[in-house]
Amino acid sequence: MQNVERLFILTGLGFLLIGMSLGLKMGMTQDFTLHPLHAHLNLLGFVLMTLFGLVYHTWPTMKEGPLASVHYVLHTVVTAVSLSLLYFVLSDPVVNGPKYGMILDITLMGAVVGVLIFGCLFWTRAKP
Ligand code: HEM
Ligand code: HEM
Repeated sequence: MQNVERLFILTGLGFLLIGMSLGLKMGMTQDFTLHPLHAHLNLLGFVLMTLFGLVYHTWPTMKEGPLASVHYVLHTVVTAVSLSLLYFVLSDPVVNGPKYGMILDITLMGAVVGVLIFGCLFWTRAKP
């Protein structure tokens, strides 16, 4: 996908808006229960996705073939699903921890798979 870097950064901006809004809400209410959710919306969502986008832009050969698109879809789905689950777990750890904890861990492994795809693309195609 030729515009994959644009998609990475636009989607990251979406996560950033949600993450910053949550940060503002935490500050206003002085309730920091959801601070790990806020941190990962901004970091796993915006910071990582923007970095991925910039790297794909810098080395366009990394975008050839389907793997960059697979990485984009995987990272987006994993971030959205896992952070939604994290919201429920943090909101009520006693009830939702045992219910969603395992599936949350499994989902996040998808992010690691995405990073492995990204690492392989960088290793094999990002030549000076
Ligand atoms: C409108 C912008 C933002 C607001 C209002 C905001 C607000 C907050 C608040 C109230 C906390 C909780 C502090 C505590 O637990 O004592 C927090 C934690 C945190 N924020 Fe933000 N934040 C904003 C943007 C960002 C951005 C852009 C990032 C990263 C790129 C970020 C990363 C973090 C991290 C990593 C923590 C956790 C720190 C820790 O646990 O020690 N925040 N933020
Ligand atoms: C597969 C992806 C990831 C997993 C499973 C993961 C897991 C965790 C866990 C379990 C914590 C402790 C939360 C707590 O103390 O309540 C944590 C905290 C933190 N992680 Fe991650 N993380 C991931 C990705 C990242 C990335 C990509 C970044 C930065 C770019 C990051 C930055 C941080 C920071 C700054 C904290 C401390 C903030 C806080 O206490 O809220 N994490 N992470």
